Amino acid sequence: MDYSKQHEIEVYLTEEQVNKRIAEIGAAITEKFQGESVYLICILKGSLFFTAELAKHIKLPTIIDFMSVSSYGSGTTSSGDIKIKKDLEEPIEGENVIIVEDIIDSGNTLSRLMKVFRARNPKTLTLCTLLDKPDRRVVDDVEVDYTGFVIPDEFVVGYGLDYDQQYRNLPYVGFIKNLE
Ligand code: IMP
Ligand code: MG
Repeated sequence: MDYSKQHEIEVYLTEEQVNKRIAEIGAAITEKFQGESVYLICILKGSLFFTAELAKHIKLPTIIDFMSVSSYGSGTTSSGDIKIKKDLEEPIEGENVIIVEDIIDSGNTLSRLMKVFRARNPKTLTLCTLLDKPDRRVVDDVEVDYTGFVIPDEFVVGYGLDYDQQYRNLPYVGFIKNLE
């Protein structure tokens, strides 16, 4: 690890703003699934903090599981294919499944992933994303149920999001100012 390569990061969404919005989404989910249970699926690694914060605001019986996928592609863009690197521990058939994603960019990853989940016959399938860059979308079959923030077409890091695996631990969402 080369620690000398640090970037200048401009805060775009503060921790307070992000957590406030996540609390609102948690409340909306609690209301929607009143009397039922939910099954949160954290898409690793980017959704780590979003899932943790969201789960605290869902006042319902809740199970949390994790999936890790890689999308083939280089640099800051993704291609169409995905590979499941770590799958869920249990079947999700008959569950109120809520997919928790960090960001939807081209939409390629989610487009593929939602097909995988649909094929496992959940009772309901809900998609939550912390961030959405609609200007970048190349697919038309990704319908988001809950969006934290719609953001412009800029590369962001923090609150789970990385640049080359760095900056996930920043408590806020920021733009990298000097991205070469
Ligand atoms: P998509 O398949 O193009 O929608 O890309 C989704 C994935 O690309 C996300 O889960 C992120 O891992 C990554 N990604 C897209 N935009 C950004 C960004 O601005 N910052 C960090 N990661 C990003
Ligand atoms: Mg990522």
